[in-house]
Amino acid sequence: MANPHVLVIPFPVQGHVIPLMELAQCLVEHGFMITFVNTEVTHERVLDALADKGLLDDRIRLVAIPDGLESEEERKIPGKLAEAIYRVMPGKLEELIREINASEEEPITCVIADQGLGWALEVAGKMGIRRAAFLTAAAASLVLGFRIPCLIDDGIIDHDGTPIKKQTLQLAPTMPLMNTSDFVWARVANLALQKIIFGAMVQNNRLVKLADWLVCNSTYDLEPGAFDLAPEIKPIGPLLASNRLGNSAGHFWMEDSTCLEWLDKQPPGSVIYVAFGSFATFSKPQFEELALGLELTNRPFLWVLRQDTKDGTNATYVEGFQPKTATQGQIVSWAPQQKVLSHPAIACFLSHCGWNSTVESVSNGVPMLCWPYFADQFFNQSYICDIWKVGLGFKRDASGAIAHGEIKNKVDELLGTMTHCTDRIQGRGPLVGWAPRQKVSSHPSVACFLSHCGW
Ligand code: UDX
Repeated sequence: MANPHVLVIPFPVQGHVIPLMELAQCLVEHGFMITFVNTEVTHERVLDALADKGLLDDRIRLVAIPDGLESEEERKIPGKLAEAIYRVMPGKLEELIREINASEEEPITCVIADQGLGWALEVAGKMGIRRAAFLTAAAASLVLGFRIPCLIDDGIIDHDGTPIKKQTLQLAPTMPLMNTSDFVWARVANLALQKIIFGAMVQNNRLVKLADWLVCNSTYDLEPGAFDLAPEIKPIGPLLASNRLGNSAGHFWMEDSTCLEWLDKQPPGSVIYVAFGSFATFSKPQFEELALGLELTNRPFLWVLRQDTKDGTNATYVEGFQPKTATQGQIVSWAPQQKVLSHPAIACFLSHCGWNSTVESVSNGVPMLCWPYFADQFFNQSYICDIWKVGLGFKRDASGAIAHGEIKNKVDELLGTMTHCTDRIQGRGPLVGWAPRQKVSSHPSVACFLSHCGW
């Protein structure tokens, strides 16, 4: 019997393409044929970065369809991409599936679409093809989305999604604390755009519920409250964890692997890894506060500074920072993050708390310093700091900025606690609130592990 043929389609942003590509890689290992559909722009970037890594895998066929926009400038206008995708891509996807199914190849019998692309599930349904929605964020974020009608009934938000008053919610005891002003749609400054995004989310959530399967890149142990509230969402984090070996494809930038050699030369548990995912940008003053804060820690650091992180400009600050950098730290434009986080030299991760970064850090036992920007990142911070207690957040000043002194203090606080713990393990019976478990497990003095057998 021929291998079943699955079409996988991600939302065209980095934090979605990587996990869906990892899922595709897992499926290929289990004998599936995969057609992976990107937008044309994403397709080119993925191909370039893959060729650089020598990782082109002919078992996953990469194809492209247009996103409906003409220029990069248009793609940067808030809301434009989502609107164009919705207008153009359903027709193009249907055409592509018809073409494949009319050809000699094995027909597509299942579509796995990014949870944010409800329309792709609709196309599959219309064509009589089974469909799965894949959620690249925490289950908690979709549980909140499913609760929108109750939030309206309870007078927490109005019909356009605007919070009626600022308040903190917790939908279940092990779920994150959610501030109404941090709701994904409520952080959009432009009210008209907020209304459009909110409406699109409500519509999308309705379509997602029609999927045959709804799977999430998470585990029950991480989010028991969310999975109990919405048992239709199935966690498949363990499946992905088996692939988290740093061989993932789907990157938009070429990785600079020289930082791994630099990490090899650093003492175990010494380096602060600093990375803000694929979107977040800084103002120049905030950039300088972070640079100064890192210098003041007097600890080695590895900082991912994408070309566009410096407020869109190619500021000269990095050059000014160079003398110290040469001895204390490394700056790269894109790191092999999964390999970095599993490196024994890493002490902690200063992160924007994107869900991928969060699960990558947690699965490597690396504690976090949280610097969320938008979307689900504030809820993820609450998981990290309030629920799992594996990290600390920063205090912001009235303008929302984080000062260099605060950065130094939080690094010291986090790593001071860890050093205390690893030093004490030389003696007998220390009790700690939270241990650096991977480091403890691999410590030569540890004889056995009395555990609750979580995954
Ligand atoms: C976006 C949103 O910001 C996030 O909140 C949402 O949960 C997913 O979509 P992004 O900002 O890119 O994602 O962050 P994140 O989810 O952390 O994904 C970034 C991915 O890029 C991770 O898999 C990370 O390993 C990878 N990465 C990042 C690298 O490989 N190298 C780097 O230098 C930086």
